[in-house]
Amino acid sequence: MNKRPIVIDCDPGVDDALAIVLANACPELEVKAINPVAGNVPYSSTSENTLRLVDYLGMDCRVGKGADRPLLLERFTAGKVHGLDGLGGYVLPKGSKDFDEKNAWDVLYEEAVKAKGELELIILGPCTNVAIALKAYPELENLIKSVTLMAGTRGKGNTNLFAEFNVRVDPHATQIVLDSKIKEKYMCGLDGNLTVALTREEGDEIFGVESRITEFTDYIAKFIDHRNKSMWNLTVNNINDLCAMACMIDPSIAEYSDVNCHIECFNMESIGQTVISEEGEKNLHYLIKADKERYMDMLKEMMRYYK
Ligand code: RIB
Ligand code: CA
Repeated sequence: MNKRPIVIDCDPGVDDALAIVLANACPELEVKAINPVAGNVPYSSTSENTLRLVDYLGMDCRVGKGADRPLLLERFTAGKVHGLDGLGGYVLPKGSKDFDEKNAWDVLYEEAVKAKGELELIILGPCTNVAIALKAYPELENLIKSVTLMAGTRGKGNTNLFAEFNVRVDPHATQIVLDSKIKEKYMCGLDGNLTVALTREEGDEIFGVESRITEFTDYIAKFIDHRNKSMWNLTVNNINDLCAMACMIDPSIAEYSDVNCHIECFNMESIGQTVISEEGEKNLHYLIKADKERYMDMLKEMMRYYK
């Protein structure tokens, strides 16, 4: 079977971590690189978390050196949401894996060239690394088959009234990705991801099942549930990056709407807002909903991989 070459750009991050667990368990994917970027927590933590996750999962992929700050704005992190270390306080063992000698944007370009137009890219954090790559290598946009972003919202933001976190951290980078000529652009926003939010019981049923990584997955799932209940009085858990990864792996579980989207990059009152409309030139497939039953089946299959 020809495997699907993918590059993951992320800011682990508890939900990024579960998304990487899913990607690694998917036999049809070949994860060529996981590139960390500053986001949920400072780059020093997102990068170390990426290295340790790759080692812990036994993955054979490159880990490029990513951006430690957004293109233009000041750094903006969410330590209270992911724990100050980014993994809710779970300490993964330090392994032997080291960073690639190349920067994330160079790694992305090299893997895109090697994949000869078949590379699929998923961005689970701010788009800083990918924006730099698109500017450094003008031909890159023609070499990426699809890009899936966990980004945006058509409803209330999670950083303020308007903006979803990844876009708020680096709105200019997100706009650069949207302006690119990458063939297929998909965006899984807070509202679409919410259609597959899990209850505590569903999370226990999935992430608690016995496997060689259950201690980690169960800890992360319980951290997310406790945080959501204690910080926002939520009774369901919107594991945003995991939903985006599932939709990229199996687009048939997702229902998208073709929209026009641009990012508010100037008005500091609403900076980072995803301005989405059904009018105008369509530049994006925006997630409306995903099939929760099939999503949960994918996650149960994922845990069986690690038995
Ligand atoms: O707004 C949610 C997104 O921002 C997720 O990707 C989370 O990990 C953070 O990066
Ligand atoms: Ca993320």
